Amino acid sequence: MSQSTSERSRRRIQEKLEAFRDQKTGGTIQHILEFNKTPVDLKEDVDKFVIGQERGKKIIATAVAFHYRRLASALKQVLGEYKGDLEQALKNTRTPKANILIIGPTGVGKTYTAETFSEQVGVPFVVEDMTKFSEVGYVGQNVTDILVDLLVAGGGNPLISQMGMVYLDEIDKIAAESVSTRDVSGKGVQKGLLRLVEGVENTFEWGQERISISTKHVLFIAGGVFEDLKNIVKRRMVKQSLAGEWQNFLLNEDLVSFGMERQLMARFPVKVVYDPLTIQDLMDIMTKSADSPLLAYGNDLKVWGIDLEFDDEALRLIAEQAKQEGTGARGLISILHRILLEDMYRLPGTFTGKLHLDRHYVREKLA
Ligand SMILES: Nc1ncnc2c1ncn2[C@@H]1O[C@H](COP(=O)(O)OP(=O)(O)OP(=O)(O)O)[C@@H](O)[C@H]1O
Ligand SMILES: [Mg+2]
Repeated sequence: MSQSTSERSRRRIQEKLEAFRDQKTGGTIQHILEFNKTPVDLKEDVDKFVIGQERGKKIIATAVAFHYRRLASALKQVLGEYKGDLEQALKNTRTPKANILIIGPTGVGKTYTAETFSEQVGVPFVVEDMTKFSEVGYVGQNVTDILVDLLVAGGGNPLISQMGMVYLDEIDKIAAESVSTRDVSGKGVQKGLLRLVEGVENTFEWGQERISISTKHVLFIAGGVFEDLKNIVKRRMVKQSLAGEWQNFLLNEDLVSFGMERQLMARFPVKVVYDPLTIQDLMDIMTKSADSPLLAYGNDLKVWGIDLEFDDEALRLIAEQAKQEGTGARGLISILHRILLEDMYRLPGTFTGKLHLDRHYVREKLA
């Protein structure tokens, strides 16, 4: 008797959980199908988090908004034909994809931008490190890994996962070592990536189910530092008597000279160059970004009744120090930590009120 009751209640819990999961995934799917933000709206959402990089964010916002509007409208059109079966609809639509390549120094917001866009659109997001591809020299197993990562990011729902974004980190590390020596492994890995980016479907075991996932509708964003690319472009500009900022003259052939496969670069038609962060950007990241490390420390201290306050001069000094370290905004976190460590250790429990830190204090802590 007691066993049947517990079984019954277990089943009820199970049903509830499934209903919840359906509701949740159903909501996410609906949300994607109804995506109707304009590029301007989308950029404004992202601006709350990602500081600076104005031109780049504009280009990416346009590409991302068009991708999801195009996907949503194509799916809605064929959904009727397949009596609302989204799986069939996904299989039987093809939309032109404009994958994005972001080039720029370390720590200036490449990965962060991609992640923020995925959050604002409301789709799964995964980061895949390309250096692991170059280690094995072939792509097979890694592709399955990526699909599994997508499935996890999509909460186990393959339909949602297939509409997500994949960030290919350090894509420049799979460049052929040198075009003249015909580095084979880099080339092979890049060729293998072609299929993934274009759309590859794999079936694998997932618990007791067999699940199929295709990357046909996945938006790929690749990022890399591409050290020295600037000089490749500039040399060509001199040869062709072109004048102006190199970023405006970047061509596929420059990336090919760098060691990238022409076919692969052709699948990333949207190219964006991110700039080094200025002192003002670094200050704004501390004071304006919704994800600001300074605000995070401030909130930590608030719990103890301490109001953290830096004056402008102090913030400028921190930004200058970060700039000097050359790790972009990443430097801010460690610098702030260095400055605040002592106070964070000592003050809680002994002090409440305003903790005002000025330029002298910062200078002393950083010395
Ligand atoms: N433009 C920015 N606006 C706001 N925060 C930023 C910006 N750039 C970087 N950050 C902060 O710094 C962190 C590191 O940035 P991110 O991971 O995007 O660097 P990246 O450009 O991808 O560098 P890498 O080439 O080393 O991968 C982010 O998580 C974010 O907190
Ligand atoms: Mg990154």
